[in-house]
Amino acid sequence: MSYFQSGERIHLVDKKGRQYALTLKTGDLYQLSGHKIAHDDLIGKPDGSLVTLSGNKTMLALRPTFGDYVLKMPRGAQVLYPKDLALIPMWADVYPGARVFEAGTGSGALTMALLRAVGPRGLVVTYEAREDFARTAMTNIERYMGPVPNLIPLRRNAYEGISLLDDGLPFDRLVLDLPEPWQVVPHAAQALRSGGMYLSFVPTVPQVVQTVEALHRATVFGMVETFETLLRTWSIQGRSVRPDHRMVAHSGFITVARKIESGLWPAVLPGESLGEAADIHEVREDDER
Ligand SMILES: C[S@@+](CC[C@H](N)C(=O)[O-])C[C@H]1O[C@@H](n2cnc3c(N)ncnc32)[C@H](O)[C@@H]1O
Repeated sequence: MSYFQSGERIHLVDKKGRQYALTLKTGDLYQLSGHKIAHDDLIGKPDGSLVTLSGNKTMLALRPTFGDYVLKMPRGAQVLYPKDLALIPMWADVYPGARVFEAGTGSGALTMALLRAVGPRGLVVTYEAREDFARTAMTNIERYMGPVPNLIPLRRNAYEGISLLDDGLPFDRLVLDLPEPWQVVPHAAQALRSGGMYLSFVPTVPQVVQTVEALHRATVFGMVETFETLLRTWSIQGRSVRPDHRMVAHSGFITVARKIESGLWPAVLPGESLGEAADIHEVREDDER
């Protein structure tokens, strides 16, 4: 059994599923719309307990999942949604032990997803241009994950370049969530190992077009693919079974590419026809059947 301790962050969940975050502290009082509960009445309770606030308000007390934590943690920059956080480590093929470069750190949500994927034997180097965002991110990360010795957070501008670490080894994976990833593509071409994966996330079509063009121009990226994900939740109540009325209809586009030997893969630049690139794509689709 796992019990709540002073200093940890928990969520209280009401009957409508709304979540409220609080950090437990001996002697403190939690208040929600006039309903109160002493933190001391929560400390020592098992994860998943039903607790009663004043006015007989019953709530569920839980340690937040990673997705719940991210949605409620303090933000500097806009965080990625759990639907994208779940996909990015898969599509960037971030594996235990990998060396990953990330920019920008933002509020630290994606950094945590990458740290979870690389595990204790891996390494994440993350660049953030803004000091205040970098500080918020580190607080968020350490509050959820504890000390992270395999994270190297640097306050740097990724558009100006990517420095290798002292051992001079290239990165296995490169993951970008910043406004102009195309400015990082030439540096990615230098900093990624051959066979390494590039992934970037951008919210708009012009951004994704510029990114894909930059990848083709670099001549060392192949298997460039872009996609988005839609997650539609369902309401299932007795005989009323239907999709929920509301959903996150758009977050952004994910672009992935492999670092390859220069000149071996057909690049499709603006104004050119698909030609051989289209044939290769068809072969891949045939293989899947
Ligand atoms: C959308 S936020 C990233 C959010 C992050 N992925 C998360 O889930 O919390 C974009 C971040 O990129 C940072 N940024 C913008 N340009 C940058 C640059 N040239 N180098 C490093 N960071 C940059 C911004 O300050 C901002 O914090």
